[in-house]
Amino acid sequence: MTGPILPDVFPILDAGEFVLRPIREQDAADWYRYLGDREVTALMSSDYDSQAEIEQIIAYFEASFREKTAMRWAIASRDDDVMIGDCGFNHFDWRDHSAVIGYQLSKEYWGGGVMTRAVTSMLRWGFGQLDLNRIEATTNPLNLRSARVLEKHGFVREGTLRDYRFDRGVFRDCSIWGLVRREWLDPA
Ligand SMILES: CC(C)(COP(=O)(O)OP(=O)(O)OC[C@H]1O[C@@H](n2cnc3c(N)ncnc32)[C@H](O)[C@@H]1OP(=O)(O)O)[C@@H](O)C(=O)NCCC(=O)NCCS
Repeated sequence: MTGPILPDVFPILDAGEFVLRPIREQDAADWYRYLGDREVTALMSSDYDSQAEIEQIIAYFEASFREKTAMRWAIASRDDDVMIGDCGFNHFDWRDHSAVIGYQLSKEYWGGGVMTRAVTSMLRWGFGQLDLNRIEATTNPLNLRSARVLEKHGFVREGTLRDYRFDRGVFRDCSIWGLVRREWLDPA
């Protein structure tokens, strides 16, 4: 393994009215409140049926940050610290200076620019502090909102990954998006 690695201390990032902070065990109910919503997960590859599942995901991300393999931020309101969304790096490839991002937001906040600001902060940190050169995302081709968030940062839809996800009993195509540092747009 070469290249940079994650810091030991989880970074807290600014996103305007919101802050990107570590996810804690106490966030499970708030996370489940929006991730248990079938409208939120409709264009993702799985649904979530219990808070216990979310607790396992929290434990997974705590371990993966310790092991420096992935990281997930809570998007929390500055006013009350309630988690209303999440975003992060699902995977790093340190040798190639690349990573894969993912994100999701409580439906009541859709369309307000929250995820654009969160992704802006995450990309600044990833390109700046982690010295990444390429950041990828995969989306359901029907997910126009997510596509727009990516386009605003300069991501290019590079193609279709055929039958990439086994999604609720059916194989589904995914769009693959890539952003290289030299083409990165900072919409702020
Ligand atoms: C995708 C998601 C994170 C976007 O978050 P958001 O905070 O609503 O996004 P923003 O408001 O920052 O930006 C959304 C953009 O999509 C546009 N948009 C909204 N509805 C749209 C539609 N039906 N078709 C096309 N574009 C649309 C908005 O106008 C905005 O673009 P603009 O700033 O150029 O006007 C959010 O919808 C979500 O959590 N969806 C469910 C989970 C999910 O799909 N996660 C991503 C998996 S890849």
